[in-house]
Amino acid sequence: MQSERPSSTPPDWSTARSRMILDPTVTMLNTGSFGPLPQAVFDRVTAIRHCLAAGPTDFYVRQAPPLLWEARERTATFLGTTPQRLVFTTNVSAAINLVASGLKLNSPGEILMTDHEYGAMMWCWDRVGQRQGLSVRTFPLPTMATDPGEIVEAMRRAITPRTRVLFFSHVLSPTGLVLPAKELCAEARKLGVLTVVDGAHAPAMLPLNVDSIRADFYTGNLHKWLLAPSGAGFLVIGPGNEDRLQPLHVSWGYHADKYPIGEVTRSTGPDARDGYGSTPRIRFLEFEGTRDFCPWLAVPAAIDFQTELGFDAVRARIAELAAYTRKVIGDIGLSLATPATPGMHGAMTAFNLPTTVNPAKLRRELWNRRIEIPVIERERPDRLLLRVSHHFYTTEAEIDILATELPACLRAS
Ligand SMILES: Cc1ncc(COP(=O)(O)O)c(C=O)c1O
Repeated sequence: MQSERPSSTPPDWSTARSRMILDPTVTMLNTGSFGPLPQAVFDRVTAIRHCLAAGPTDFYVRQAPPLLWEARERTATFLGTTPQRLVFTTNVSAAINLVASGLKLNSPGEILMTDHEYGAMMWCWDRVGQRQGLSVRTFPLPTMATDPGEIVEAMRRAITPRTRVLFFSHVLSPTGLVLPAKELCAEARKLGVLTVVDGAHAPAMLPLNVDSIRADFYTGNLHKWLLAPSGAGFLVIGPGNEDRLQPLHVSWGYHADKYPIGEVTRSTGPDARDGYGSTPRIRFLEFEGTRDFCPWLAVPAAIDFQTELGFDAVRARIAELAAYTRKVIGDIGLSLATPATPGMHGAMTAFNLPTTVNPAKLRRELWNRRIEIPVIERERPDRLLLRVSHHFYTTEAEIDILATELPACLRAS
């Protein structure tokens, strides 16, 4: 689990913001899509990349393995799991594809998911359905639920004897609603349904303990709210699922024990640390041939950065900014699309936009004013949404800029 900084005094947020690399001409309200970098994290990944550039063989064979193991241990502790369960991936899309393509499901049957899943991930499951003879079904989420139990109940009603897999986001992309992941997994388990969780937004936004959620497969991104370099995602393999997946890429990890390169030690079991910074079981899934995995190696720097600020302090600041956003944007007449109930939202707050608005025009109007914020088009009931992301470096002044400019942007759209 995430460790805390020793002091209980909250940091000075303006000083903390000055440690971020941010374009000063932009009102940045879209961490939900892509996280910017703290200077310290950028410096760390750049230093690692310099080593790679200067001596690639020395880097891959000798320098990187201990750094990779350290990153795996640090990341596993941060996420609340063990290094032996943690597969690094380029992003959450890769992690979900690894699970979806590697699983062999009993057909006929169905893949069940909420009606608020990330579009590309729905396509991923569509393809699994087509290839394995399963149907894909969505169930409606009570998006403005006031109690997590309503969401669990909606899911319980949706599961049928045909359901093979339940797929859901821990934090919904369009609205930032936080789903009760542990309870959903517990219910699915009782009914014999496999769970795959898309935790794209959860690490660092929520106080996460992945093992306690008990998903069969928990995936996530470290390059959103943790502020690690782009290219850092992961899969945590839940107990009982260790031998269920096949890799997306067959490479040297496929027969991990056969061809050690360089001066590596042979491991002594599928979960023993090997000479590559992995275990044979992890490397089987993770190793894709030569590639730039420096973002994974810089994850400890990202963990250090927010540990120093204090994850609790960061989340308290985010909660303040969420309340401010609800008030200020609410005051210009937009209705909330994210529940205000504590525990059901995190660092994203969405608002319903009038359905008469042309989304492409609105995006242009906002960006003409250098406001970076997504306008999200969805099918009913949330047809058109504006999603505000607020991390610790977001300022009240930025939210004020949005509130001031938005009415004119809406009129022009
Ligand atoms: C819920 C959810 N899943 C998946 C993704 C895809 O993330 P990535 O492009 O890093 O794989 C996103 C991106 O915003 C997301 O919000």
